[in-house]
Amino acid sequence: MSENDTLPPPAFVPLTPTELDAKLGPQIEVIELIGHGGMGAVYKARQIRLNRLVALKVLPPLEKRDGWDFHERFQMEAKAMAKLDHPGIVTIHDFGETEDNMLYFIMEYVDGEDLHRLIQDGQLSVEHVLSWIPQLADALEYAHQKGMVHRDVKPANLMITYEGHVKITDFGLVKMRPGRGRAGLTEASLSVGTPCYLAPEAFESGADVDNRADVYSLGVVLYEMLTGMVPRGAWLPPSQCRIGIDPRFDLIVYRALQTNRDARYQRIAELGAEVLAIATEPYPRPRRKPASMAKTEPVMVGPSVVAVTAVATPSPVPVAGAGLYAAPTELLKP
Ligand SMILES: Nc1ncnc2c1ncn2[C@@H]1O[C@H](COP(=O)(O)OP(=O)(O)OP(=O)(O)O)[C@@H](O)[C@H]1O
Ligand SMILES: [Mg+2]
Repeated sequence: MSENDTLPPPAFVPLTPTELDAKLGPQIEVIELIGHGGMGAVYKARQIRLNRLVALKVLPPLEKRDGWDFHERFQMEAKAMAKLDHPGIVTIHDFGETEDNMLYFIMEYVDGEDLHRLIQDGQLSVEHVLSWIPQLADALEYAHQKGMVHRDVKPANLMITYEGHVKITDFGLVKMRPGRGRAGLTEASLSVGTPCYLAPEAFESGADVDNRADVYSLGVVLYEMLTGMVPRGAWLPPSQCRIGIDPRFDLIVYRALQTNRDARYQRIAELGAEVLAIATEPYPRPRRKPASMAKTEPVMVGPSVVAVTAVATPSPVPVAGAGLYAAPTELLKP
C-alpha cells in the first residue's frame, strides 16, 4: 500500500461559476455557486434554450484509480434517480460530463432554503415539524416503493420551498461515490460531513442498507427539528429538552432510532402518519382527581413515555447557532 492510499482525500475546491461556465458550452449559463459539501458543488444556472432556472450539481473530479466502471455506475444510478417523479423529490433533468471528466447533473432549481440553515437560524416551530416531516416521509415512502433508498437523509439535503413544500435532493447520490462498498459508503464518505444521521448498520462493512436506514435518519432530523440538537449516545427524549413538546414525539423518535432495524418503523410512512396524528388528535392530559375518587376511577395518563425516559440519560449534542432553542439545562429547571 502506498502512502497515498492512507492519506485522506484532498479537500474539494469548487470551480468558480466562470470556470464552470467555460466547460459547459453555450446551452447553459452558470449564474452563481449556491453551496458545496463533500460530494460536489451546487450552482444556480439557466438553460438558455428553455430559459429556465436549473440547479447544477458537479461532482468532484474523478481520480484515475476510480476507473471507468464508475462512469457506467454513475449513468446507471442517474437513470434510476431520473425515474423518481414526485413533488417532494427534486427532479433530475439530465446528466453529463465535461471534457475533463467532471460529472454533473442538471436538476430542478428549488427556490427555498435547506433545512440545515433553517435549524441553524432557529426559525422552526412545532407546526413546521408537523407539516414537513409527514411530507418528507411521504416522498421517501414513494421512493422506497420503487426500490430506491436515499442513504443520506440529512438537513442539508432537505430543501423547503418558500411555499412550504419539501424537496429532497441528492437521492441515492452517496451510492455513486467511487470505491463504495456494498453499503454504498466508503471510509471517505463517512469522514465527509457528519455521521450523526447515519443508521448504525451503515457503518458495518459489507452491510446491506435498506429503507429502514432512511427511517433512522429521518428520526434524527425529527429530533433535531424539535430540539436543535442531534441525538448522540444516551439522549434525552425531546419533551425533556424543550418545554411544550408533545410527549408523543418521544415515542416516535425512540422507535425510529432503534439500533436494531427490525425494531424501527418498517415503513417510513408509519413514521409520517404518527407525526400527522399529533397534528390532528389531542393528547390526553393527566387529570387530577379528588382523593376520594382516585380509588374508583383510574387516572388518565398519556402514552407510555416512561418507556422512553427509562432508557435515556442526558447527553444531547447542541447544534451551533440553533438560536430558538434554550439550553437543555435551562429547560429542565423545575
Ligand atoms: N436543487 C437545488 N436547488 C437549489 N438549491 C440546492 C439544490 N440542491 C442543493 N441546493 C443547495 O446547495 C447546497 C449545497 O448542496 P451540496 O449537495 O453540494 O452540499 P451538502 O448537501 O451540504 O453536502 P453533500 O455533498 O454531502 O450532499 C445545499 O445545502 C442546498 O442549500
Ligand atoms: Mg447535498
